[in-house]
Amino acid sequence: EPRTVTIAQTGKVFDAPGKDSVLNEALAAGIPFPHSCTVGTCGTCKSKLISGKVREIMDSAIALTSEELRDGYILACQSIARKSLEIGVVGLSDMPDHMLTHAQGKISTQRALTHDIIEICLTLDTPLEYSAGQYAELRLADVNGPRSYSFADAPSNIDRRRATFFVRHVPGGEFTDWLFSADRVGTDVSVAGPFGDLWLRPSELPILCVAGGSGLAPIKALLEEANRQGCSRQAVFLFGAREQQDLYCLMEANAISESWSGSFAFHPVLSQEPPNSAWTGERGLVTNALSRLPEEFLQSCEVYACGPPVMVNALEDALREVRTGSQYFHADRFVTRI
Ligand code: FES
Repeated sequence: EPRTVTIAQTGKVFDAPGKDSVLNEALAAGIPFPHSCTVGTCGTCKSKLISGKVREIMDSAIALTSEELRDGYILACQSIARKSLEIGVVGLSDMPDHMLTHAQGKISTQRALTHDIIEICLTLDTPLEYSAGQYAELRLADVNGPRSYSFADAPSNIDRRRATFFVRHVPGGEFTDWLFSADRVGTDVSVAGPFGDLWLRPSELPILCVAGGSGLAPIKALLEEANRQGCSRQAVFLFGAREQQDLYCLMEANAISESWSGSFAFHPVLSQEPPNSAWTGERGLVTNALSRLPEEFLQSCEVYACGPPVMVNALEDALREVRTGSQYFHADRFVTRI
């Protein structure tokens, strides 16, 4: 008898032949499912087993309390269906529930933001819904495999047949060498999405946003969207770059800062700015800038970060010094693909 999993809150059903975790089977079926670590440590995929039976891949006791285990909670990333299941997915109520969409797009504009970051806007043949902070996979006919880029605009700012991305040049990278070598307006690009766990959780906690390089795109989108919705949570936004010439969208960041209803501090932080330059802002790594923030803020904030893996990992390590757990930490690590 075919095994299925039913999500109690939405009534959505997907096949779970039991070859992979419940989480992976949901994602393979295009069903949005809250997750982050996928290895049984963060608890984001926590679900209540209402009926059916699972086998655990790894012991779930790291991320679940003894009460939760007693009450029949499971980790979807660590559970394989042994029978058809009905589950209540704890994080689902907050989670964006957009359909996975495959659209055909055309590059409609292309402009340089810095010496090595380009903004491209696509017009799509199908509307694509996403939440600020999420990303899409772009494919070109002549380039192998997809490239992942975050949506750079707040979704409520634009019509759903438009999508904007920031692309950093990776010398030797097939996709970006192609994009940076000529004006590509008019080229066809396939877009699939949305993906990703970087969306603003509803809460009243202070927000710490950290962006590095082209990782600014999802953070900008997330803050713009929150601002449009009148968010008044205390926010600190650190934008890490090498030198002044690597900074961009400063007008946009200042505009958010000025119109935000609560307290908002925006700090560009430069790691390689020549010491004798006229720069009066922060210097060093974003993790150094972190140590200048009040400990009370660091212990209570929710973190949204996007940038190179070294930056995101260093940030996570630095925060581990002042607090435990990882539920508050939401990040996209940009892995460079050649
Ligand atoms: Fe399952 Fe982190 S995604 S515990």
